[in-house]
Amino acid sequence: MLTPAIARAARAAPRHARTLATAVESKPEHLKSFKVYRWNPDKPTEKPYLQEYKIDLNKCGPMVLDAILKIKNELDPTLTFRRSCREGICGSCAMNIDGVNTLACLKRIDKDSKDVKIYPLPHMYVIKDLVPDMTQFYKQYKAIQPYLQAEKPADGREHLQSKEDRKKLDGMYECILCACCSTSCPSYWWNQDQYLGPAVLMQAYRWVADSRDTQKAARLEKLANPFSLYRCHTIFNWLNPAKAIAALKQEMASA
Ligand code: SF4
Ligand code: FES
Repeated sequence: MLTPAIARAARAAPRHARTLATAVESKPEHLKSFKVYRWNPDKPTEKPYLQEYKIDLNKCGPMVLDAILKIKNELDPTLTFRRSCREGICGSCAMNIDGVNTLACLKRIDKDSKDVKIYPLPHMYVIKDLVPDMTQFYKQYKAIQPYLQAEKPADGREHLQSKEDRKKLDGMYECILCACCSTSCPSYWWNQDQYLGPAVLMQAYRWVADSRDTQKAARLEKLANPFSLYRCHTIFNWLNPAKAIAALKQEMASA
């Protein structure tokens, strides 16, 4: 049986929903312009250009990725970009937004009247539109052997690590390999074929610093050439690859 309170709530609910719907519908248009880098490999003689799209911010989610998805879903299905998790975990939506390398899913849309300019990560070959070719980056990552190398653990089951030693990996293991730092590094722009770049060097140090790994000497030896490590001029980004690179240099000096 309905109590008077429940009956009152049931009668009020549709009215409340109607009021909300009317409020959303009646919000005035808030148009924002997005200028997006376009290049189509099927038309190789056409130069890259910026294409403008206007989005009503009152009908769009708060992040730049929301706007890009809206463009793709409602205005232009040919726009090509990478994305997966939509919450800053996979690193695939890395791009250059208003001059800064960042993740489109974590970058809020400014409500001001300025255009938003969106390019692929800089100084990489472009496959199409906002999709850079990450082949070299992943090849470099593979080269540092990014996995634990150790004898079978004593108990046959797990490699133990003290809390203090585990703490040494903080600030490095979280890297999602988005390549935002490497592609904003001038040394990496000019020597990408030989210099590993901040992200991969931080990962190299992540394994050098791991107390369970037994290949520290071999790992350091691999990096001992004028380019792999030493083109780095210690430029800072979010997780702080610069700190890891400085530590790596110290390890090399004392090896
Ligand atoms: S260290 Fe570089 S590659 Fe790793 S998450 Fe930060 S910006 Fe991305
Ligand atoms: S979509 Fe995964 S980090 Fe942005």
